Amino acid sequence: MLTTLVILATTFLSCSAVVIPEEPGLNGPRRIGKRCTGTIKSLADVAAAQQCTTINIGGFTVPAGQTFTLAAPDGAVVSLTGALTFGFQTWAGPLMVVTGNNVTFNGNGHELVGQGELYWQGGNGGVTKPAPMLRINNGGSFSNIKIKNSPARAISVGGNSLTVSGINIDNSDGDAPNSKSGSSAAGHNTDGFDVSAHDVTLSGNTIKNQDDCLAINRGTNIVFTGNTCSGGHGISIGSVNSNTTVSGVQITGNTVTNSANGLRIKTIATATGSQVSNVVYSNNKLSSITQFGVIIDQSYPSTLGTPGTGVVISGVTFSGSNTVAVGSSAKRVSVNCGSTSSCTGKWDFSGLTVTGGSAGTVKNAPVSGGSF
Ligand SMILES: *[C@@H]1O[C@H](CO)[C@@H](O)[C@H](O)[C@H]1NC(C)=O
Ligand SMILES: *[C@@H]1O[C@H](CO)[C@@H](O)[C@H](O)[C@H]1NC(C)=O
Repeated sequence: MLTTLVILATTFLSCSAVVIPEEPGLNGPRRIGKRCTGTIKSLADVAAAQQCTTINIGGFTVPAGQTFTLAAPDGAVVSLTGALTFGFQTWAGPLMVVTGNNVTFNGNGHELVGQGELYWQGGNGGVTKPAPMLRINNGGSFSNIKIKNSPARAISVGGNSLTVSGINIDNSDGDAPNSKSGSSAAGHNTDGFDVSAHDVTLSGNTIKNQDDCLAINRGTNIVFTGNTCSGGHGISIGSVNSNTTVSGVQITGNTVTNSANGLRIKTIATATGSQVSNVVYSNNKLSSITQFGVIIDQSYPSTLGTPGTGVVISGVTFSGSNTVAVGSSAKRVSVNCGSTSSCTGKWDFSGLTVTGGSAGTVKNAPVSGGSF
């Protein structure tokens, strides 16, 4: 009788993943995997392979119009063993989604090939472009992959307790015009990282694109450190909409070159009930910025239009040495707040030096220190 029970129990455990709904993990229900190695060489392999705590994903093409969703069990180790190419189709996407608690995802330097060049047309109109190319919704770590030519936004980060490092987003092919884009860059809306997440560090990533390098939409305790951005719109918080909190952001030791803006906070003019607090920039180096070195603007989607007051920005600090070199037609620092009560707390800019271009204006914000 006892033997039978043990055999039944063992059989049960080895045949199916156990869902424990009463103990939710941070990134979805906790799910205990089996100690086995799952190999994915087509989407048909995913269901079986994602029962295992070791998962290897080999080189194949994800069929056009389908999302490759991987729901890894708790503590899984996932490795890329070859490139993944995403078939061309005009649809909303996303192209790939990874979920799970405490997952270690290592791309081993392999490429995700988005074939953006088949979609790009230099603007938002025309064909629907799948976005994001990759949604990282797991906790743990995600590292060492190359993203080649995302159709539109490259990576959305939505996990809790997550480190994202060694990601190389290369949309530089989109810098040149193509037959549909006239004289504009073909790539458009190709954000590097869009972040809505908690306790997340993004470090040592390289982004070449035509839109925001980083856009933080919501979340707490977000660190962006040691990354390199070029070709795009710089490092941004926002655009921040209604009922949203962004709190505890550290932007440190990044390099930004050849970008429209350097460091930016943009909040939607009509938004209400939101806050952006405790933002610290330290030791960033920015050069060849063509529009604004630093811009903090409560009038989005206008630029320096009529600002709103429904997203309170409190506590913006430049510490250490942030240097920003802007081009001759750029503004050095522009701050556009709706009222002195919507831009509050300490705005210590003493660690900021901006050179080149012409001075911007600071409206309704308690800025102190700095050289600009
Ligand atoms: C996370 O997963 C690793 C295995 O990849 C395991 O060693 C570690 O104990 C797990 N940590 C937690 C907090 O569950
Ligand atoms: C914000 O929250 C309020 C109150 O819950 C709700 O009425 C409103 O629709 C929300 N706005 C947005 C844009 O989510």
